Amino acid sequence: MKKEKTKFVCASCGYESIRWLGKCPECESWNTFSEEVVVKQEAKGKQGYSGPLNISKLHKIESSSVSRFSSGIQELDRTLGGGFVPGSVILLGGEPGIGKSTILLQSLALLKKPSLYVTGEESLQQIKMRAERLGIASDLITILAETDLNKILSAINDTEPTLFVIDSIQTVHNPELMSSPGTVSQIRESAYALMENAKTTGRTAVIIGHVTKEGSLAGPKILEHMVDTVLQFEGDGNNLFRIIRAIKNRFGSSNEIGVFEMQGSGLKEVPNPSGVFLNEDKTVNSGSCITAVFEGTRAILTEVQALVVPSYFGNPSRITSGFDQRKLSILLAVLEKRAKINLSNKNVFINVSGGMRIDEPASDLPICLSIISSSREKTLPPGIIVIGEVGLGGEIRGVPQIIARLKEAEKLGFISAIIPKANFPETKGKTGMKIKAVSSIEEAVNTF
Ligand code: TYD
Ligand code: MG
Repeated sequence: MKKEKTKFVCASCGYESIRWLGKCPECESWNTFSEEVVVKQEAKGKQGYSGPLNISKLHKIESSSVSRFSSGIQELDRTLGGGFVPGSVILLGGEPGIGKSTILLQSLALLKKPSLYVTGEESLQQIKMRAERLGIASDLITILAETDLNKILSAINDTEPTLFVIDSIQTVHNPELMSSPGTVSQIRESAYALMENAKTTGRTAVIIGHVTKEGSLAGPKILEHMVDTVLQFEGDGNNLFRIIRAIKNRFGSSNEIGVFEMQGSGLKEVPNPSGVFLNEDKTVNSGSCITAVFEGTRAILTEVQALVVPSYFGNPSRITSGFDQRKLSILLAVLEKRAKINLSNKNVFINVSGGMRIDEPASDLPICLSIISSSREKTLPPGIIVIGEVGLGGEIRGVPQIIARLKEAEKLGFISAIIPKANFPETKGKTGMKIKAVSSIEEAVNTF
């Protein structure tokens, strides 16, 4: 008998190899290779295709506006770009226990359209218990506890839902494939079949995907490329706030966020989130700095905190929560070189309050000033917000939407702001706040 050919595929990036490898040469992750059987296609006699092709001149294609239907949850609609698009596929990623199943069940209850919820992780009773807790009694929701791809597809075709949810893609498997559920080929094939179903019938598919410890969606990156929209559920388990962030959206803006609070009876929307990430008592500690980050179409005030303490070992720690660690190293290098502040014998910890994650360049300067504030044990003046991008030369660069940020801060009772000099002209006559405009990190550091 002819031996079947096999290949080895990296679960994290999809790199293929003819033999097993301990470490992936592509993405450098360890122990991610699993074996897959290669099914060889019959060799075709001639190349090309002689049937009709679906090609048109660009100017002859009729434009159509995207019709959408509301998810029933405004903050979710916002991240989707205005609601679910028929025939589109949405990938919802997030850590276990963050609230993926909860938000989707809540949405299905408000949808007023027939829906199918396929669960491969929980039993029907568990779903029922959650629904009772959420006070859901919709007769339009059908639940299926199944992991076999073919049975799921038949159930979708039988029940004809407007929207179906797959919870989660890692549990779905196609028995015709040799590999076990959760492997690259299973995830890819299952997602492809479900996508095909959504695209050809105009149903909306929401696929839940787990994330790995490092925060990327488990399974191949290819899943993110295949779907129309990738939503990421963020927030830490200890905090009640949850954020849904659109990291890819073919039908809308990709930087919108939706803010929720986890309560005893499910996720509750926070329609006006600008102040929720701030400390409730307005006392300012050293190391604390308030900034206004711009998320999608809204400015949100956020507190960044730094703790700078002596390090007694060779390698000082640089630990961050809600902020990129490499970015912190860069900012520390800029502080050392351009503002002559040496922190090489200090541990630096950064925390963004409320489980918020910031990656906007405008938060560079607040991070730097919170570090200075902690290392000097000197608080920033009360009622101040700080905004600005820090370049490698120590220059402070202008940021977009400065007026919207200042307005939001003013609304919440802030009285002064440190902003980039480049933004200063546009603020004239537009804000009642006291403005200090800075052009270099050195200048900013010497403001307090
Ligand atoms: P869940 O939606 O099951 O998370 P995921 O599907 O992302 O794994 O949410 C689970 C957590 O949410 C669990 O720790 C309990 C909590 N929770 C509430 O606090 N209130 C609620 O009403 C519900 C349904 C869950
Ligand atoms: Mg779940």
